[in-house]
Amino acid sequence: MNFKDQIDKNSLPKHVAIIMDGNGRWAKQRGRLRVFGHENGVTAVRNTVEAAAEISVNYLTLYAFSTENWSRPKREVDALMSLLVKSLNKETSTLNKNNIRLQAIGDLKSLQSKTYKELLKAIDNTKQNTGTTLNLALSYSSRWEITKMVKKIAEKVKNNELSSEDINDEVISNHLTTTNIPDPELLIRTSGEQRISNFLLWQIAYSELYFSPKLWPDFGKEDFYEAIVDFQGRERRFGKTSEQIK
Ligand code: IPE
Ligand code: IPE
Ligand code: MG
Repeated sequence: MNFKDQIDKNSLPKHVAIIMDGNGRWAKQRGRLRVFGHENGVTAVRNTVEAAAEISVNYLTLYAFSTENWSRPKREVDALMSLLVKSLNKETSTLNKNNIRLQAIGDLKSLQSKTYKELLKAIDNTKQNTGTTLNLALSYSSRWEITKMVKKIAEKVKNNELSSEDINDEVISNHLTTTNIPDPELLIRTSGEQRISNFLLWQIAYSELYFSPKLWPDFGKEDFYEAIVDFQGRERRFGKTSEQIK
């Protein structure tokens, strides 16, 4: 039986986040430039987004470019940005066909203006869709986001719009870029690396972590479904005992 058929539709994660890693190594294995890996990573993005939409996962967040990734060689950064523009352009009709709404989190203003404009256009062109929300993390890092949140809250306290006594979990969540998005129940990272790399630190407090050895361009629909089946076999206790859960 394939993994898709093993999924229990009644206990799907509402939000799956993915650290798409391994494009460079995938290209290197083939004696090609890193950019070749990124180009092939686009196919994996398409497959994964479709896979999520097919089983109606509400939110899929993909880590596409981190704050730290700006430090890569200029040639690679430029290639990634133009690939993004090209893909947004090309994939908008597929998103609409699959009823997928595009959103983005991160320091979007730091993107090159062409990339930024293309992104806003794609977001606008898919805003009427009611199925899966595809949330792209671009020029994103969790420490950037947390710093921004602290500044916003401090400003409100200073202006007497908020009392420091009233700051709680919920207030903090509401001042992050993921406001209105539930925390991911499942976080997947490909390529065998087992680290978080500055991604959604607050939001993954109780996420189940799943590490796939596959390099991102090789990650397909069944790999995504396998991760979900694995997730569904876990007992999530949230600090309680196993007996309390049953
Ligand atoms: C992930 O693949 C894509 C981005 C971070 C943009 P990498 O480019 O990190 O590939 P590796 O980790 O070097 O193989
Ligand atoms: C994390 O991958 C960022 C993205 C997938 C966009 P990296 O390849 O940049 O992570 P590190 O630096 O190896 O941890
Ligand atoms: Mg990497």
